Parts: sequence; structure tokens; C-alpha cells
Amino acid sequence: MKRAKIIGVGAYAPRRVLTNPELEKMVATSDEWIVQRTGIRERRIADPSEATSDLAVKAGLQALAVAETHGSEVDLVVVATCTPDHVMPSTASIVQNRLGATGAGAMDVNAACAGFVYALNMAAGLIESGRAKTVLVIGADELSIYLNWKDRNTCILFGDGAGAVLLKAGDEPGIMSSTMGSDGSGAGLLTIPGGGSRFRMSANGKKPVGQYLTMNGSQVFRWATQMMTGAAEQVIASSGLNLEEIDLFIPHQANMRIIESTAKRLGLAPDKVFANVDRYGNTSAASIPIALCEALDKGLIKVGDNVVLTSFGAGLSWAAVALRWSAEIPERLSPWVPFRQTFETRVAAVRSALRRQQRRVGTVIDETLHRDS
Ligand code: UT7
Repeated sequence: MKRAKIIGVGAYAPRRVLTNPELEKMVATSDEWIVQRTGIRERRIADPSEATSDLAVKAGLQALAVAETHGSEVDLVVVATCTPDHVMPSTASIVQNRLGATGAGAMDVNAACAGFVYALNMAAGLIESGRAKTVLVIGADELSIYLNWKDRNTCILFGDGAGAVLLKAGDEPGIMSSTMGSDGSGAGLLTIPGGGSRFRMSANGKKPVGQYLTMNGSQVFRWATQMMTGAAEQVIASSGLNLEEIDLFIPHQANMRIIESTAKRLGLAPDKVFANVDRYGNTSAASIPIALCEALDKGLIKVGDNVVLTSFGAGLSWAAVALRWSAEIPERLSPWVPFRQTFETRVAAVRSALRRQQRRVGTVIDETLHRDS
């Protein structure tokens, strides 16, 4: 049986930094409260011109560059997101086209903040079964667009971003074990109720109902600390490891208190736990791949290390993965990479425009022939 291993990683966060002191001017909160209760100091907010796919493409290109792989070699593009560009088509199809991944299938996975680990798990399964060889998994979200900036319970927590990994078939693990779970009885605890088939347009047909993210923070908090511990223990045990053999634990970056409490319950030393929630807030499906990239940049993961990823989010849903790191990530990419990728993405854009043109011409020819016959 083939095994799935990560051979490339990438991350992108929008430039705009929103700090706690700035939030103090927008809503009844304080830097002190936010830092004490969440550990968050700042977060990134996407420009209105940047859609989720724009963030995803940047992270995806980086993962491809690190792995020295061209988009055309990818079999499947999966984008984990709960803030897609559109209801349809999938954000993954938009990303697949822009990356020039012409031989790839594409789909979105929505498991909210747990989406990236769900998608990673699914991609690993396709590789292990031989149905795919190379899969690009991207976690990308812009929850900022669903925030009510007058609701201090939620608007201080979230930020935007994207992270990606390129998975390839190999003989050694790789992804060693995984778990996924859901408890829909908690669906109302963290939700953006509008925009789907349950709550439709209001009577005048104009005002969308329930466009804001709402959350019962304390209930999600309590559930998350218990569940993160259980999921981590499960994947550690099923990979045949014990706690002492875990080199780095990368939990979903939602709240520093959840991260610390999970680490304490697991009995992990603080230096084995990675956190960057202070600088990004909760970036939903992007949080784990962004953290993974930063941990690699800081030299915290070496070849042969055992790493555990644990995530939780709306659903309620959760997923965890234990993996053995096997890729040498180059410290610096060749200076030609940006030029090559700019060229390749332009070629992809031209190919895409030609295909649209070809479809238009094809339609005109068909209609003309049909009329004449
Ligand atoms: O990906 C999953 C995403 N969600 C999460 O991970 C959220 C998990 N939950 C949490 O992180 C925490 O529950 C919060 C950070 C959201 C809230 O922290 P908490 O310690 O559970 O606070 P609380 O909701 O129990 O509220 C305590 C007090 C309340 O005031 P009163 O009623 O005691 O007077 C709140 O109104 O803090 C108040 N409060 C705030 N004060 C200043 C709530 N939000 C704020 C705020 N600034 N931003």
C-alpha cells in the first residue's frame, strides 16, 4: 500500500493587520481583556478585492514551489473553506484553473475550522488507495466578512488567511493515523445561519437573513478543551506512539487558553506545543497549515519527527492526524521561482481565456449548423 506524505507547504496572510487597540475603537473591549482571555494581539483582514480563492492560490503556489512541482502534475485540488468565493462553483475549481492544474479534479470541503485536517485525511485516503498520486490540500477562510463588528463576543477572535500542503504517494509514512468526528447536536453553538436553504431572503426579497457569525463561546470553549485532548490521544495511540515520542503538537489556533489547557490535559511540555494565535487570531481552516509553515520556518520540525495536528470547529466537528515528517524543506527558494510561477499563472490565464472563447465559438457554430439543417 502506498503512503501519503507532505512534500510542500505554503501559507499566505493578507497584509492588513488589525490590532487590539484598533478594536478598542470599534467595540466595547480592551487589549487587556482580549490578551488575557484569548492570547490574541492582532489578526489579518483581507482586502475587499481579495476573495478566498486569491488567498488560496498564493498559499497553493508556495506549496508547489517548495515541492518543485508544477500544477499540471496535481491529480486533485481540495480547498477546505466555509467562506467560499461563491455558493457555486467550488472555490477549488477556481484555484485549480488559476494554478494551471489542468489534469486535476477539484472540490471544496466544509468542516469549518476542522476542514483542513478533514481534507488532509481524505486526500491521504485517496493516495493510500491508489486513486490519486499528488493532491494539493488548501485551508483558506475569510471569516472577517461574516463578523458583526459590534459583537464583542466574536469580532475579536477571527482573522483571514490560507495555508497549503502538497501530498504525494510514497513508500514510508507520512500520515500515520487520523480521526474525524461530528456532533450536530451542537450545530447552533457556532453558526452563520444565512445564505443557505434554511433561511432564505426576507419577505421583500432583499435583506439576507442571519448573515453574521454567532457563537456560544463558553460552551464551545468547554467542549473544545475536552475533545481536542481525546482526539489527540486517539491518533497518538493508533499510530503506535506514546506521548513522549511526539515532537510537536499543532492544535487549531482558536484561543491560547484552549491550547494551554489541552496541552496540560495531555501532559505535554510547553516547548512541544506550537502557537501563533497571538499574531493571526483564529483563521479557521487556514490555522493549522499556517502554523505548520511557521513551525517549519522556525526549525521546530525535522525529518523523522512525529507531529500531531488537532482541529475543532462548527458542526460541531473535529479531526486529528498524527504524521511522521519526511520532507527536507529548502531554507530559501530559487530566485527564479517567482518569475517562473508568474509566467505559469499567466499561461494558465491565457489557456483559460482561450477555452472560454473556444466554447463561445463552438456554441455559435453549433447554433448556425442547427439553424441551417
Ligand atoms: O474555531 C472555533 C471557534 N470558537 C472558539 O474557539 C471559541 C471558544 N470560546 C472562547 O474562546 C471564549 O469563550 C471567549 C474568548 C469567546 C470568551 O471568553 P470567556 O472567558 O468564555 O468569557 P465569557 O463569554 O464567559 O464572558 C465573560 C465576560 C462577560 O461579561 P459579564 O457578563 O461577566 O459581565 C462578557 O460580556 O466578558 C465579557 N466579554 C468581553 N469583555 C470585553 C465578552 N467578550 C468581551 C470582549 N471584551 N471582547
